[in-house]
Amino acid sequence: MKRVLLIVSGGIAAFKALELIRLLRKSGYGVTCVTTENAEQFVTPLSLQALSENKVFGKLFSLTDESEMGHIQLSRSADLLVVVPATANILAKAAAGIADDLASTVLLATDKPVLMAPAMNVRMWLHAATQANMKTLVSRGVHVVGPDEGAMACNEFGPGRMAEPPAILAAIEALLHPPGVLSGRHVIVTSGPTHEPIDPVRYIANRSSGRQGHAIAAALAGLGARVTLVSGPVTVPDPADVTVVRVESAREMLDACQSALPADAAVFAAAVADWRVANASDGKIKKRPGVAAPTLELVPNPDILATIAAAGPHRPRVVVGFAAETDDLLANAQAKLVRKNADFIVANDVSPETGIMGGTENAVHLISASGVEEWPRLAKHEVAQRLALKIAEALH
Ligand code: CTP
Repeated sequence: MKRVLLIVSGGIAAFKALELIRLLRKSGYGVTCVTTENAEQFVTPLSLQALSENKVFGKLFSLTDESEMGHIQLSRSADLLVVVPATANILAKAAAGIADDLASTVLLATDKPVLMAPAMNVRMWLHAATQANMKTLVSRGVHVVGPDEGAMACNEFGPGRMAEPPAILAAIEALLHPPGVLSGRHVIVTSGPTHEPIDPVRYIANRSSGRQGHAIAAALAGLGARVTLVSGPVTVPDPADVTVVRVESAREMLDACQSALPADAAVFAAAVADWRVANASDGKIKKRPGVAAPTLELVPNPDILATIAAAGPHRPRVVVGFAAETDDLLANAQAKLVRKNADFIVANDVSPETGIMGGTENAVHLISASGVEEWPRLAKHEVAQRLALKIAEALH
């Protein structure tokens, strides 16, 4: 899990830090907060603690803080430092190398990337001193998001309003996961249902829309991977920058996956029909008065995931399966992890009342040999993004 050390300083915009923490947690980041003395006038440490689910650090010379986790350790245990809001004062201190409280000391002591989200009155922002400080900080490699232009709490209009939390989150993600994190990697994704013919016009199918699999393909491509998307019949549009191989049946899907090897990772999001019709007819089956309805003889389809996960030297390094269950979700999913030789199983409850199958949201558990992660209910593209980042981490 990537960790963000959030330095909250004393400005009206400090309340937006709460929304940012919520978004960061929802996206799977660990968050630890450090507050300046003034920050506590705008946002309570208790709220920061509740949302970050972590202790909040305020005073530089607090003995317990120093013995449990000194300022050096705070920066060491983070992947990125984010200052929200970055007031004119903290920008000035950081530019001058002043270290007179925990927040400024951490900023001076860190060797991690730093992202500042400035927020202040328009005149303070445009002041030559602030602009010179910004120049100094940027020349030292500090990253900046915002400020935005707009109406401000001080009844003025202009640049100085802090960037909105989703924009800060996007800046954080870009810093923690540079766009090319999966460049040079090939990932196979299966998606959608399969159609198993009964005759040339009829088939057995299921309710899978392909939304989750297609979103995963898009998210992987967004991180720079070369993606082969093996898709059953779906109506969702093809994602950009992805090679799409269209198939109908499970056997065609397996052939397409095998032809796409070698791959660094493979994600099996398709809802593959477990059986196909052994006595499928080459011509359309006609109903005739007095003749009994046909009996369909079903035989098992190959398990695509298990076949690829057993592909010996060609086995992708990271194999991800899905487990759609209506009962005993975790136990069934854990059994699938072992039985199919997968590295991760994304388990979801597809009971009709959840509205997940065919819907736009998903609530999943991520199961691996190291345990179970419970993810909050997220849009399918958010689940995809989070899974793509997990795969990137696993491949590193
Ligand atoms: N899968 C596959 N090929 C199959 C069946 C399933 O690749 N013939 C993959 C799915 O894409 C998914 C995982 O295996 O990643 C689990 O699929 P699921 O249908 O939930 O499980 P089954 O193995 O079919 O088990 P059960 O029917 O007992 O739930």
